[in-house]
Amino acid sequence: MLKIAIIGLGNRGGKYARQIKNSGEAEITAICEKNPALLEGARVTCGVAKENAFLSDDDFFRRGKLADALVVATQDRDHYRHAISALKLGYHLLLEKPVSPVLSECEEIAALAREKNLSAVVCHVLRYSPFYDEIKKTINRGDIGGVVSLTDTENVGYWHFSHSYVRGNWHSEQESGPSILAKCCHDLDIIGYLSGQKCAEVFSSGSRRLFLRENAPERAADYCLDPCPERKSCPYDVKKIYYGITRHTIPKMGAHIKVITGMPNPKISDLKEALKTSPYGRCVYKCGNDVMENQTVAMKLENGVNANLTMTAFSKGCFRRLHISGTKGEIIGIDAEHKFKINIFGGASRTARVRGGGIFGHLGGDRMLVLDFIKFLKTGEKTERLSTIDATLESHRIAFAAEESRKTGKAVLLLH
Ligand SMILES: NC(=O)c1ccc[n+]([C@@H]2O[C@H](COP(=O)([O-])OP(=O)(O)OC[C@H]3O[C@@H](n4cnc5c(N)ncnc54)[C@H](O)[C@@H]3O)[C@@H](O)[C@H]2O)c1
Repeated sequence: MLKIAIIGLGNRGGKYARQIKNSGEAEITAICEKNPALLEGARVTCGVAKENAFLSDDDFFRRGKLADALVVATQDRDHYRHAISALKLGYHLLLEKPVSPVLSECEEIAALAREKNLSAVVCHVLRYSPFYDEIKKTINRGDIGGVVSLTDTENVGYWHFSHSYVRGNWHSEQESGPSILAKCCHDLDIIGYLSGQKCAEVFSSGSRRLFLRENAPERAADYCLDPCPERKSCPYDVKKIYYGITRHTIPKMGAHIKVITGMPNPKISDLKEALKTSPYGRCVYKCGNDVMENQTVAMKLENGVNANLTMTAFSKGCFRRLHISGTKGEIIGIDAEHKFKINIFGGASRTARVRGGGIFGHLGGDRMLVLDFIKFLKTGEKTERLSTIDATLESHRIAFAAEESRKTGKAVLLLH
């Protein structure tokens, strides 16, 4: 049985733990999580021995190698030191994205993995979801001819954006990284993966329009539950976002409620109590956030193909809309609908329907990533979609270049 350890048992780490357990192909032999309640919850669920459950990352790494591979699911700016420590001990890695918000750190991790002959797979989960998998097969078969342009609109969802990029972990460039990296390295990776092309030149612009202190209504309280007279009309009221949800508001954010309370099995009363003082209970206009709410990235790929990515906070749903034009036809689809249309010029149109899970499991991508990773480590079988660090750093390079372009107002050349 393959042995896997996990560091960071929050939202993502908890999901990977479940997928690893459900696979029946690997066992979780060690875990490290700095929140005692989450550590103990995960320890019991995963059946990990007490001596292999660590509150401190120093203690965990000091114990040496306790598994074949380590899942690194801590926060963005912790990945570097956790990945480097793990590689030095000889762990293969399943590494959450972004690899790091610092390009040189990403490159250092990749170089050390190469030097040690260890595998580092990045959690670019979209590649593994049936929707994108089927689109890749359609392109590979030549159904739409040669790809000439790709347009991807990443609709983050107003409720998701407020949770993660205004109130939450990814609200500050300094603390995590820019939203084009944190949210859209997935999109930049998918564009490169589907086109099979590197990016030669990037131009990007971005904006922040809504979540600004000057937009706070005059009588708005600092916390929704303070109480605030604006709650009834505000779509970002915590009741509408996290509980008391109706079909007109948002999907149930179960895992996010664990993040807010820091508890493995929170009750609604725990959530309400936490929201009185938690960063997630704050007025969305008073969060000190600075990451872009909207950003467009225009890319010229190495073979002259054009690609465009637009990320926006302002959509009701959380979905990506793709339009890929080829010389013989086009693909148009919305990933959350689990289907896309293939229109052949001068020929028939058809709709491809795919299986797939909900948005919180990345449409089935989380599960397939874990299965592919385990299979790869056990058999050495490398699928085309396997998101090795060398294959996926391109997405990060484009994100860093997009940020440079946004800040300087100039196009950035990636290939000369
Ligand atoms: N692949 C994807 O689509 C996807 C989606 C969401 C988040 N992410 C990424 O996954 C990572 C984790 O995100 P999350 O949503 O699970 O966050 P989270 O805050 O829920 O989980 C992180 C966990 O790591 C723990 N932790 C932090 N520092 C630690 C340390 N030094 N030692 C031990 N434990 C420590 C925290 O207590 C927390 O429980 C982030 O890098 C994030 O950007 C990826």
